[in-house]
Amino acid sequence: MQPSGIRAFFDLVLGMKDVISLGVGEPDFVTPWQIREAGIYSLEQGFTSYTSNKGLYKLRLSISRYLKNRYGLEYCPDEEILITVGVSEGFDLVLRSLLNPHDKVLIPTPCYVSYPALTGLAGGIPVCIDTKHDGFKLTPARLEEAAVKNKPKAIILNYPTNPTGISYSKKELEGLKKIILKHKMICISDEIYADLTYDFEHTPFPTLSGAKEKTIYLSGFSKSYAMTGWRVGFACGPKEVIAAMTKIHQYTIMCVSITSQMAACEALVSGKKSVEEMKREYRRRKELVVAGLNDLGLSCHNPQGAFYVFPCLKGIGRKSMEFAQGLLKDQNVAVVPGTAFGESYEDYLRISYASSFENLKEALARIEKFLNK
Ligand SMILES: Cc1ncc(COP(=O)(O)O)c(C=O)c1O
Repeated sequence: MQPSGIRAFFDLVLGMKDVISLGVGEPDFVTPWQIREAGIYSLEQGFTSYTSNKGLYKLRLSISRYLKNRYGLEYCPDEEILITVGVSEGFDLVLRSLLNPHDKVLIPTPCYVSYPALTGLAGGIPVCIDTKHDGFKLTPARLEEAAVKNKPKAIILNYPTNPTGISYSKKELEGLKKIILKHKMICISDEIYADLTYDFEHTPFPTLSGAKEKTIYLSGFSKSYAMTGWRVGFACGPKEVIAAMTKIHQYTIMCVSITSQMAACEALVSGKKSVEEMKREYRRRKELVVAGLNDLGLSCHNPQGAFYVFPCLKGIGRKSMEFAQGLLKDQNVAVVPGTAFGESYEDYLRISYASSFENLKEALARIEKFLNK
């Protein structure tokens, strides 16, 4: 396993002053006050114990109700929901539960850096499907081709996507679902950015007809509620899979911190308004960044969700590592070279707009200076 390319690059940033970092994928907002207060209050009340391995029943019930009300998606809080240490732990558990040695897992790329690494760690073989020639979207045709060739056990979907910000409409998902079911794959669907979908309603994969029994749905609180440091996520799926995941979780983690679970309960009660406010601000920043980068010749599509853009450097004839290192050294702006997401992305950068509007304006001005040199 290679260390994360993102972390490797950001070790360079440590110790530098006046750096505008558009690198790490986390909200620049602090967790909304009422959620923090719920965590603090739970400590004041003396809630400092372990919880059930599966997580607080109250939280599982709230998640179950939330999914039902929001999407009409029904999961039983007793048997079909597990509270995890972020989606990160959910991924590790699901891959270790499902994969036998050498099972293949399809992964559309560019993708979140953990997927291939965790698949390998669980004894599986990651099979990447490059999407750059299809506007960074997996198409049914490419999926069919990869399924026939590799006979995969599972596929990992992530939408809105890190690092490109693309997402899929219901119609597009139906097209993918057909192939997934036809080839009897299990779909691991990472929908952590669902609340940050800008242009259309997000469709959870398990809401598609016939898909629920074949899907492990992963989501969490880190991104939409600005709660990365609290480490709370959840996995929903068929009870046999959740039971297997719970066994590993029981021995390795025991349970998620009770303080964080209490805070997550509050997020589901009162967090909606804050999520909407943060989303509005991300959208404003997205418009600034997309227009600014396109004006500078770093061509970039308009993302449909999350808080990333993935501009192309071909128009200015530069390569990602050299560009990112130069920009950091010359103008103190940190972005992630596309190669952190695989060798074939050397013509791209990932830029996170989870930074203040002023920082983003300044970063665009510095990129312009760098290009003019
Ligand atoms: C697509 C995706 N999935 C999962 C994670 C991890 O999230 P968590 O904080 O819930 O572990 C991230 C974090 O950047 C991500 O971008």
